[in-house]
Amino acid sequence: MCGIVGYIGNKHKTINVLMDGLQRLEYRGYDSSGIAVIENGHSKIVKSRGKLRNLKKKLSRKTLSGYVGIGHTRWATHGKATEKNAHPHVSGSVSVVHNGIIENYQELKKELIKKGYVFYSDTDTEVIAHLIEDYYKNGLSFENAVRSAFKSIEGSYAVAVISDKAPDRIIAIRKFSPLIIAIGEKENYLASDISAILSYSRKVIFLDDGDVAILEKNGYRITDLEGKEVKRDVSVINWDPVSIEKGGYRHYMLKEIHEQSRAVLDTIRGRFSEEMGEVYFEGLNYKSFNNIKRIVALGCGTSFHACLIGKYMIEKISGIPVEVDLSSEFRYRGPVIDSKTLAIAVSQSGETADTSEALLEARRKGAKTLAITNVERSKIARESDMVIYTRAGPEIGVASTKAFTTQLIVLYLFSIYLGKNRKIITEKKAKDLIGEVLYTPQLLEKALKLEDEIKELGRNLYNYSNFLFLGRGPNYPIALEGALKLKEISYIHAEGHAAGEMKHGPIALVDENMPVVLIAPRNGVTYNKLLGNLQEIRARRGKIIFLTSGEVSEELEKHVDKTIRIPECSSIISPLIAVIPLQLLAYYIAMYKGTDIDQPRNLAKVVTVE
Ligand code: F6R
Repeated sequence: MCGIVGYIGNKHKTINVLMDGLQRLEYRGYDSSGIAVIENGHSKIVKSRGKLRNLKKKLSRKTLSGYVGIGHTRWATHGKATEKNAHPHVSGSVSVVHNGIIENYQELKKELIKKGYVFYSDTDTEVIAHLIEDYYKNGLSFENAVRSAFKSIEGSYAVAVISDKAPDRIIAIRKFSPLIIAIGEKENYLASDISAILSYSRKVIFLDDGDVAILEKNGYRITDLEGKEVKRDVSVINWDPVSIEKGGYRHYMLKEIHEQSRAVLDTIRGRFSEEMGEVYFEGLNYKSFNNIKRIVALGCGTSFHACLIGKYMIEKISGIPVEVDLSSEFRYRGPVIDSKTLAIAVSQSGETADTSEALLEARRKGAKTLAITNVERSKIARESDMVIYTRAGPEIGVASTKAFTTQLIVLYLFSIYLGKNRKIITEKKAKDLIGEVLYTPQLLEKALKLEDEIKELGRNLYNYSNFLFLGRGPNYPIALEGALKLKEISYIHAEGHAAGEMKHGPIALVDENMPVVLIAPRNGVTYNKLLGNLQEIRARRGKIIFLTSGEVSEELEKHVDKTIRIPECSSIISPLIAVIPLQLLAYYIAMYKGTDIDQPRNLAKVVTVE
């Protein structure tokens, strides 16, 4: 959940590369940050509590040269968000930054204290620094000291280490936490996330678990924990560096909302033939799904909402029963799984610990596994039998937007893929469904045109303290998603419910201070029932925001406070379109409230702890 960056070389100023990288990683964690640079044989450490701007301010009062350095932005796990707990952590000549969790740190700490080491922080990371220093000062080379230390460390980690005594290298090691090296001309980079270094190099090596990388100015080596060299492929990343900029938008979230039409287009490109009514996914062979009798879909947060909509899509189009589970619940409830089960893990980052563990649990019990993720070679992608990538491009805003719509379009295409191959749908039906896919980017563009209207609505609503979101069928999860978006970036209390449940409890909340967003695209089979809900809310003086499609009669208009009209489309595609005004509504309410939209309090973009 934290971010790591490292640089060795003299093509750029080290401190600039580190700060630039940290700026791009800040979305991963933002409660403290720090850097270490070796200058004339001595490590200079600067750390600060809070946002990166505090570290910047401190650095502006210093001049730091040196051609090797590491940096870190933190989301606290062990120990409070204080300066002393910020990374890098130091022991003797060794400075360390770390993402992940050291599970046996208490035991290691006790042993190190017995040996006379003094601990300054409350973190688990500090044991890494002392352990390496202990081996190093007792005669091992720097590299071997790092390897030896990690033979006794248990847990998940991506770590970068430097030492004053070996100022010509950075050593990096990973297990269960992503780390890449990026190759330049007489310079090399290190990062936990491609976006940190994408504007410097696109030649990237994804380290594997147990890899130890030794980065020097003029080259690099990768070994295993025993010191044996291993070869890793160099990938050329085709993400456009511009995609990690704000591109003129005030926030990443707004930029990413606007990118959804393009992201969906990229995600469907090359994956179907309208003429033949066929869907293809690179690397997938239908034979792998032949004996599948049941699907379990797993995800957290917004990705869980995508799973809930995926259930409607897959069951309706392919006839395969789907169960949806929160990843964090699944593995602890002893799920019934067999070899005829397909477990689908949906995750933007591909790193979410709960989803990764849930998927491994399903796999252990004999399920086939499929990942739907946005990040190539991410943990979940690598742990699955098969992968379908969404092609949303980097999602930097903490609140997920374009990742969600691309997950939905993948689930929709996958439903057609299954339905057609299982002969549940005819070729004609498959062609019709694919026709809808083709039209979706245009529908998204149209929905984005609602922006000015929604901005005005946000201005009228930002002072309310509670919101209800109601929907039915495939738009019930959109009610959950609308509420989640609003609460996470505006800190307003919001609840999403299935509209049919309203009378079973939530209606008690409705009064004149309760805006209720009723999601009711016209073509849904339950449209008339939703109109019934509308009257019930009206009768209790609730403020109604009516999200619908098509014409609304004058009579109906009289009963609502605001109508939001999304473009007409089939019921099953409607969640992709209905979510757009809700993302915009959350955005503009948060904007008028003045909250930190891209980095809301207490959240982190990637949740690598359970
Ligand atoms: C909400 C949000 C989170 C994520 C959740 C899962 O806007 O971003 O709820 O959806 O943490 O993350 P991934 O998809 O990376 O597994």
